Amino acid sequence: MQPQPSVVASVMPEGERRRHLLDLDDVSRAEIDAVLETAESMKEVLSREIKQVPALRGKTVVNMFYEESTRTRISFELAARSLSANIINFAARSSSVEKGESLIDTVRTLQALGADILVIRHAQAGAAHLVARHFHGSVINAGDGRHAHPTQALLDLFTIREKLGYLDNLKVAIIGDILHSRVARSNLWGFTKMDAQVTLCAPPTLLGPARFWQATWPRVRITYSLEEALDGADVVMALRLQQERQQAGLLPSLREYSRFFALTEERLAQLADNVLIMHPGPINEGIEIAPEVVTSSRAVIGEQVTNGVAVRMALLYQLASQVTHEE
Ligand code: CP
Repeated sequence: MQPQPSVVASVMPEGERRRHLLDLDDVSRAEIDAVLETAESMKEVLSREIKQVPALRGKTVVNMFYEESTRTRISFELAARSLSANIINFAARSSSVEKGESLIDTVRTLQALGADILVIRHAQAGAAHLVARHFHGSVINAGDGRHAHPTQALLDLFTIREKLGYLDNLKVAIIGDILHSRVARSNLWGFTKMDAQVTLCAPPTLLGPARFWQATWPRVRITYSLEEALDGADVVMALRLQQERQQAGLLPSLREYSRFFALTEERLAQLADNVLIMHPGPINEGIEIAPEVVTSSRAVIGEQVTNGVAVRMALLYQLASQVTHEE
């Protein structure tokens, strides 16, 4: 068998090489393109019989998950393994956090143990920024409160580009529990950098005032009508209804929510055949999206999950080249 090449990574634009990925707000279009192109090369690696290259041999990645995750945690683990890095899974519930160790002390401990890259998910917005201030290596935000989930937004962009062949000037409808969604916020940064026309659609209690969104993303459109949001869309992204919000009195009932906002086959019948239906997961089937829509030919939900590994490989690879452990 011919020896397989390692990986072909797209070079970050000069002056834009970063140490951390905390959100997409300060990430340029050129940087996003470089990550997506590198992810294509990583996807080729993942199609090989031996899905591994030595690119990060000797580096240590720590998955710090203070909040539940299936997709993000496992895909970071697979990504690190495919790059031959050491990967440590740190679960707060079985660590010294249970004895009262603080987040900052935990970071100092992981640094003393030789960690190069920390991947952190935390229920508190700002946790990843705090960790980045105290860690000498690289930090990747794997979701902090309702603030940001930049790797989800990157894998969403990758999936759209792969399926449609372009990212510019898309019409994107984001439907559901937008107020509490870090996925919506990071995707707003990503999509607007691609000059997309983004429409946000939800009941008023799960959206908040239009001026709140338009102060940061002036071109964003707001509607409470699903039909209006779907009209002309190239991409329709449903978000998980965070059911715990129902107890907070934000919704009269799940049935009422589904009646007006669920993606059903009947509602999607008006859309063109090549419209992409996306969902970051986890899904509440039958609440924000009908089971037949999840398995329909237009849905790319499985591809989003699959592409998460290649995109996270690309990020780990790009950031690892910046790790110097200098303050
Ligand atoms: N989309 C997403 O972040 O899923 P997990 O919570 O399973 O990681």
